[in-house]
Amino acid sequence: MTTSSYLTTPIYYVNDRPHIGHAYTSLATDVLARWRRLQGRRVFFLTGTDEHGQKVEKAAQDAGMDPQAFTDRVSQHFRDLTATMGFSNDAFIRTTEDRHKRACQALWEKLAANGEIYLGAYEGWYAVRDEAFYGPDELVERDGVKYAPSGAPVEWVREPSYFFRLSNWAERLLAFYDANPDFILPAGRRNEVVAFVKSGLSDLSISRTSFRWGVKVPGDDAHVMYVWLDALTNYITALGWPDETAEAWTLWPAEVHFVGKDILRFHAIYWPAFLMAAGLPAPQRVFAHGWWTNEGQKISKSLGNVIDPVALVEEFGLDPVRYFLLREVPFGQDGDFSRGALVNRLNGELANALGNLANRTLSLIQRNCEATLPAATEPAEADAAMVAQLAALPGVVGAHLDRQEFHLALEAIMAAVRDANGYITVAAPWALKKTDPARGQAVLRHLHDALRVFATVLQAFMPGTMAKLLDQLGVPEAARGLDDLATPLPAGLALPAPEPLFRKIEATA
Ligand code: MSP
Repeated sequence: MTTSSYLTTPIYYVNDRPHIGHAYTSLATDVLARWRRLQGRRVFFLTGTDEHGQKVEKAAQDAGMDPQAFTDRVSQHFRDLTATMGFSNDAFIRTTEDRHKRACQALWEKLAANGEIYLGAYEGWYAVRDEAFYGPDELVERDGVKYAPSGAPVEWVREPSYFFRLSNWAERLLAFYDANPDFILPAGRRNEVVAFVKSGLSDLSISRTSFRWGVKVPGDDAHVMYVWLDALTNYITALGWPDETAEAWTLWPAEVHFVGKDILRFHAIYWPAFLMAAGLPAPQRVFAHGWWTNEGQKISKSLGNVIDPVALVEEFGLDPVRYFLLREVPFGQDGDFSRGALVNRLNGELANALGNLANRTLSLIQRNCEATLPAATEPAEADAAMVAQLAALPGVVGAHLDRQEFHLALEAIMAAVRDANGYITVAAPWALKKTDPARGQAVLRHLHDALRVFATVLQAFMPGTMAKLLDQLGVPEAARGLDDLATPLPAGLALPAPEPLFRKIEATA
């Protein structure tokens, strides 16, 4: 097993304010990063902003601003979002940084030296919104305007351009996908990419001359680099590349690049081709998640139904929002955001199932055990199933997270929480104080152990609330990793009076 883990989000275009889609990709990355840290791995979690290209240049023009001043301002919104959402990123990269321009130019030079680049002229369709080229067969026409499959309008472009010999890489990419069956997840997306590559790849235009807002092509000032070549390079810039002796470079290749399904092609085809052509290792995995709709409708600025993550967090609290986004929809599939569903999850699973279990158990320990932790005892027959389930839980969660199955990890945890609620109902420790105090103590200790496991594994998803629960459980801050679960807490530990973990929301229409 690797002991280090490099995890990335896409770098976000600074043409707009952050919305739920941006928060979602980064949240998934954050949860895996936190989990890897709980496992004791060295983690480097990168996010940032994609600041060059025609789309950003246009947005700056529309705002009547110089592009650098504009990107400085909008990039800050994305930095602020990381704080609002509790993201634990280790770095935040901006493509307008000098170190990044140097890395892009070094990559270009390497590709050129390897004979992978030639000068030609591009003539074809381009969608500024996607910053992508499209073939004529991919387009549909409505009211005299041609659109890409993404719905973005395309324009005809004709200009001198450098090309990357992508057509030479189709066979090697297919061999690479074959040798690394989990390189693209989920599997359905992988099949789409494989089919696309099998249908043949054309050489890729990698420079533009009709605007200036980009990284200059080395040795030819008239050209700026295609924004996707520039943007993808961020993943290696951040590790110090082209200095391959940089300490951070040992983190390459990335364990997972998290992306939305709309940008999979760039990450699963262009990026490994660029890297292999430059003699660098390809990442281990690209995971493409689905898209959110809002109460059944496509999210768009023109419909005015953009979901603002900051407003959601203000209304429901950070951890319920983090929980909901990864619990509600299988990671990899499209999903619908609905307030009703969020309220149900929050009330039913967090406040009732988990919150009440903690509150009942810890209140009984206060009342019946003089506010100290009872001693651990050998499980009786009635305890055995729950004890075994808890011992297995971190492994089950870990196996799901290794494949980015966040929803299955949470389902497994919630199933165990439901079982623990069944256990407390049957064991009825509140009735045992008088009839069998020793058994009463033993039951509360099993429940305390259960809560410790839940809180430890859930830290990755709900770090703030689980830190509170671990405080209430008396788990020292230095003993909250997965390995620490093997060491029982000492009997007699003084426990503070519990406080509610989650606030229930009145269901409204
Ligand atoms: N700049 C490029 C990425 C370069 S990475 C080298 C880019 N930026 S973006 O700002 O447009 O958006 C990025 C992420 O937000 C994508 O992963 C995209 O899938 C995600 N989402 C945007 N809208 C979304 C939804 N409605 N739902 C879920 N995710 C969505 O692309």
